[in-house]
Amino acid sequence: MSEISNGIIPDYIVDYIRERVPMSREGLRTLEAYAHEHGVPIIHPEVGQFLKIYIKTAQVKRILEVGTAIGYSALVFADAIEGKGHIDTIEIREASAERAVANIKTYNQSDVTINVHVGDALDVLPTLTGPYDLVFLDAGKSHYDKYFDYADQFIGKHGIIISDNVLYKGMTATDDLVIKRKKTIVKNMRNFLDELVEKEGYDTVIMPLGDGVAISTKLGE
Ligand SMILES: C[S@@+](CC[C@H](N)C(=O)[O-])C[C@H]1O[C@@H](n2cnc3c(N)ncnc32)[C@H](O)[C@@H]1O
Repeated sequence: MSEISNGIIPDYIVDYIRERVPMSREGLRTLEAYAHEHGVPIIHPEVGQFLKIYIKTAQVKRILEVGTAIGYSALVFADAIEGKGHIDTIEIREASAERAVANIKTYNQSDVTINVHVGDALDVLPTLTGPYDLVFLDAGKSHYDKYFDYADQFIGKHGIIISDNVLYKGMTATDDLVIKRKKTIVKNMRNFLDELVEKEGYDTVIMPLGDGVAISTKLGE
């Protein structure tokens, strides 16, 4: 049987896809190497590629991200925005936020302003006003429901909210994979997804991309 080390997709499929994701530009490769060396979780290459395509296709200009880490994904998004744009990104760890600010200063080649907000997302989100075209949730997996409620206030019709890591190494989909210390997070993620797919005013699809992404688009008249 094939190895399934990410709990979701056989390794040979992941390898095949990743070999076909275009190589990042040099500055981003430096950050990928740093993240790998220091165990910083950053978006999976295929998730980054998908988001770049979406940002270009939908002509996204304004993005809100929850979970900055070292600023890698924000820079990937900025590269994909055509012309002027704006990204607000929230990071709870001061050291990570400082590194993100430095990385953005060094590597941002776009006309996009990237603002790093330091603090717990639940404290920062009420201070933001939007509007945003796209919201990317990539932090604090137990609180996605609350982040989503804020995001809902910030986006309009056809706005999109992308929740990352929703399959959580397969644990969300089967008890067989659940690690004891992750039980609460998994329970919260399952509840979030169950509510999300039923949410009035949204269409949602859960995709086995990277660690699992839920893509929700706001409906309207
Ligand atoms: C998966 S990493 C983000 C990776 C980043 N989006 C990227 O792909 O380059 C998640 C980040 O969220 C931050 N985080 C966790 N809980 C948070 C919270 N409650 N508010 C804000 N940030 C939080 C963590 O410190 C961590 O840096």
